[in-house]
Amino acid sequence: MEWKREMAKFKVFVTRQLPGQGLEKLKTIADVEINPEDRVLTREELIRGVSGKDSVISLLTDKIDAQVMNSSKRLKVISNCAVGFDNIDLKAATERGIYVTNTPEVLTETVADLTWALILGVARRLVEADQFLRSGRWRGWAPMLLLGNDVYNKTLGIVGLGRIGVAVAQRAKGFNMRILYYDTIRYEKVERELGLTYVSFENLLKEADYITIHVPLLPSTHHMIGERELKLMKPTAYLINTSRGPIVDENALFNALKNRTIAGAGLDVFEKEPIDKDNPLIGLENSILLPHVASGTIETRTAMANLAIENLMSVLQGKMPPSLVNRDVIKVRPLD
Ligand code: GLV
Repeated sequence: MEWKREMAKFKVFVTRQLPGQGLEKLKTIADVEINPEDRVLTREELIRGVSGKDSVISLLTDKIDAQVMNSSKRLKVISNCAVGFDNIDLKAATERGIYVTNTPEVLTETVADLTWALILGVARRLVEADQFLRSGRWRGWAPMLLLGNDVYNKTLGIVGLGRIGVAVAQRAKGFNMRILYYDTIRYEKVERELGLTYVSFENLLKEADYITIHVPLLPSTHHMIGERELKLMKPTAYLINTSRGPIVDENALFNALKNRTIAGAGLDVFEKEPIDKDNPLIGLENSILLPHVASGTIETRTAMANLAIENLMSVLQGKMPPSLVNRDVIKVRPLD
């Protein structure tokens, strides 16, 4: 009873309605305020929402910096409902003793599936073919109609062998691919288990038919794929990005696609989201552009929301959250 009364004092801000029943569970221990609008909050609204709260469930579209954190002296936990956390100033959070959590694992397979949808989609020109048919241009089977490229037996280059990179590699086995990877760390056990070959970044760019990016956005990965890197790729190669937009220099990519110095691209993420209506990528046929939906299945988005809520409740209850990002925070503010 005592414990319940204490818990009822918690105040939580949720920056947007989430799927599933998890929030109902949270409401049993906290006052929960949810953004009533189905849109990203303005900066002022975000600051007002966080003000005076113990915790916030944020999304990758919410920029949580020192100013937002300063709007609540009580802030103990920022629970990001995403695996990426480049929208949060980790240093500022750690200095203030604020726990930052994310939602890894639950979305790994779903993102790998979407990555593969993009690989197959660009290779076989699925969107272009669909639009061709719907626009009434199909005059019947033709030997040269909308020819694409094979995926089976080709070379896949994985940049970043984290959980998602591994899940993408597992699927590539079914396509009998030669699988190269580049990472700052070598994973020899995974190499042996999945038959992967570790190569330099440069060799991966030169040799792969399909290059797929699975690194987090950090100062060191910003524009990791730019003009120089695109020039190293084969003219028949495709670039797939389901990680974060700013990892690829979008201008350089546009030029490479337009001049066909690479064959095509499958993009789920962009330097600026949402993209502008006049973004030149929109006019290119040799690309598939998706509105950042890689983890977007009912099952996975529900699991992400549930994990974000579990992370948040754990910290509020003085327990170690399942997925803490800034481990150093424990030294600044130990769990009580
Ligand atoms: C999606 O982009 C995520 O980071 O979860």
